[in-house]
Amino acid sequence: MNEKKIALVTGGTGGIGSAICIGLAEQGRKVVAGYFPPEKDAAEAWQKARQEEGYDIEIAAGDVSDYEGSQEMIADIGSRLGGIDILVNCAGITRDKTLRKMEPEQWNSVLRTNLDSAFNVTRHVVDDMTQKNFGRIVNIASVNGQKGQFGQTNYSAAKAGLHGFTKALALEVAAKGVTVNTVSPGYVKTEMTSAMPTEVLDAIVNQVPVGRLASPEEIAYSVCFLTEDKNAYMTGANLPVNGGMYMS
Ligand code: CAA
Repeated sequence: MNEKKIALVTGGTGGIGSAICIGLAEQGRKVVAGYFPPEKDAAEAWQKARQEEGYDIEIAAGDVSDYEGSQEMIADIGSRLGGIDILVNCAGITRDKTLRKMEPEQWNSVLRTNLDSAFNVTRHVVDDMTQKNFGRIVNIASVNGQKGQFGQTNYSAAKAGLHGFTKALALEVAAKGVTVNTVSPGYVKTEMTSAMPTEVLDAIVNQVPVGRLASPEEIAYSVCFLTEDKNAYMTGANLPVNGGMYMS
């Protein structure tokens, strides 16, 4: 078993997830990047690319929108490495549409992947963390969960819900050495934002006081701060990393 603390980042091969994996590895953690099972080839290529950069990061398949699939992923990591000490719930998707045009599948897929996933994965790691009297859980939400966004009733509801989950779980595990916090990124330079219509994205960026998109590393920096061993008294918080777009 591993002497380093073990960190699982769901959606770990994505834009923000990759930067979080690298940040945690640089912090001395044994990092596992969770990925959506149909994306096995891409995940293996991602792992190889990280190896070439000097990062030894494990990968683990698991559909986080599914309870049993999440349980199997945690069991797989447990048998390979041991119990998880640090969990970053980062897996997320968008299905943007105004509500009047939104189909149930667009609502359900976003709620399952972005919100149910926090329950599905955390449920299988939290007992171990409380028994060890150490755990760090970070949920990646969004500025749009705080302020709402045109075309994102599904996403805004899921991300707002994620912080409610953070606060309730933080209360339940506070006395057991486990902290639970949210990071709410603004608009970040990733595939998710590059899929937006250019004119819509430009109009949004024009309103960001810092005047540009965030880099994924700027989000990862906050996650690494929250997961430090010595950051033991900060729990139930929502860290906004949005370039001043929404001040809370
Ligand atoms: N405010 C007011 N009106 C707006 C608007 C806005 N922000 N955006 C579009 N509209 C208007 C349009 O001008 C158009 O008006 P007309 O009908 O008069 O021409 C109308 O609303 C479009 O409405 P539709 O019902 O046709 O829109 P749609 O269902 O096809 O969806 C959309 C449009 C895809 C939602 C598009 O507005 C869009 O892409 N918006 C951006 C959503 C966004 O910010 N996504 C973030 C993705 S990244 C992410 O989520 C990461 C993160 O955490 C930040």
